[in-house]
Amino acid sequence: MKEMASLLRIVADETRLRVLRLLSETPLNVTELTTILGLAQSGVSKQVGTLKKAGLVRERREGLKTFYRLSEEAEVPEEGRPLWVLLMDRVRSTEDNRHDLVRLADVLESREGDTPGLHERLLAPGESWHAWSRMIMTLLPSMKRAVDLGCGGGILTAELARACDEVVGVDISGPALSAARAHAERVGLTNVRFVEGDMTTLDMPDSCCDVAVLSQTLHHLPDPMVGLRVAARLLKAGGRLILMELLPHDEAWVTDKLGHLHLGFAATDLESMMEQAGFRITSLETLPPSRGERFRAVQACAVWE
Ligand SMILES: C[S@@+](CC[C@H](N)C(=O)[O-])C[C@H]1O[C@@H](n2cnc3c(N)ncnc32)[C@H](O)[C@@H]1O
Repeated sequence: MKEMASLLRIVADETRLRVLRLLSETPLNVTELTTILGLAQSGVSKQVGTLKKAGLVRERREGLKTFYRLSEEAEVPEEGRPLWVLLMDRVRSTEDNRHDLVRLADVLESREGDTPGLHERLLAPGESWHAWSRMIMTLLPSMKRAVDLGCGGGILTAELARACDEVVGVDISGPALSAARAHAERVGLTNVRFVEGDMTTLDMPDSCCDVAVLSQTLHHLPDPMVGLRVAARLLKAGGRLILMELLPHDEAWVTDKLGHLHLGFAATDLESMMEQAGFRITSLETLPPSRGERFRAVQACAVWE
C-alpha cells in the first residue's frame, strides 16, 4: 500500500508525466528534455532525479552525456507494477502534448546532425546555408533599405543586410529583439537597426524602403490585410515584397504555445490579399513537404506599383 501511495504521489505532477511520456518514445538527456519542455534545466534535473529515485527511470552514460530511459516493468518496485503498466499504457496513448512531440522530432533531428564528422557537417544544408545565402546576395543589385516586419531572432534580417545599405528589423517582442541584436553584433553587422513595437502602428515614413519582408508574421496579426497594407505603405514604387507563410494546418497547439492567430493560409487567399493590398505578384510557390515536418510553407514575391 505504501509503495502504491508513493508511486501515485510521484506521478501526480504534470512535468513528471511529460518526462515519462517523452522517455516512452526514446532515451533523452537532461539538455534535450529541457529544450523540449521549455523549462529551467535545474527544475527538469530535479524532476528526473525524483523519477530516478523512485525507480521509474534509469540512467545510462554515453561518453560525456547521461541519457535517461523508462524503467522496464520488472525494475519497478513489485507492489506498484500493475499500476505502472496501466499508467505507461495510458501515457503512451495520449494524443495531447503534441507540441512536445514536434520539439522531440527537432531534437532528434539535430542529434543526427551531431554524429557525422566535420566534413559531412560542413556540407550539410544546416551548416552551409548561411554561406550560400551570402554568396547569392552578392549577385543581387544593391538595394538601399529593407524592412523585416516581425523579424524575430533576426537571422533573415542579418542575411538581408548583405545586400542592402540599411536594414530595419521590427518586432513587438523585446526578448526576440535582444536575440536579433546579439546575432547582428556577433556576425559584425553595422548596417542593421532594430525597432521594438507593433508593426501595425509603426512610426516610419511612407515610401522609404526598397524591400519589405513578411516572413511568418501574418499569422500573428488579427487582420493579416493590415500587415500587407503596412508593407505597401513603406515601399517605394517598384519596391519588392518578400512573403513567407504557412499553408493551412491543424496544429492547434501553436495558438497557445506560439501565439499564432491563424492556422496558416491557403495560397489562393494570400494571392487575393496581396492583390487587394495593391501588389503585383511575380512569383508564388508552395514548397513540397519536407521529412518529418508538420508545416508546409508558401513563398511569394510581389512588386508595389
Ligand atoms: C514566427 S516569428 C517569425 C520570425 C522571422 N520573421 C522568421 O521568419 O524567422 C513571428 C514574429 O512576429 C512578431 N510579431 C507578432 N506580431 C507582431 C506585431 N504586431 N508587430 C511586430 N512584430 C510582431 C513576433 O514577436 C515574432 O517574433
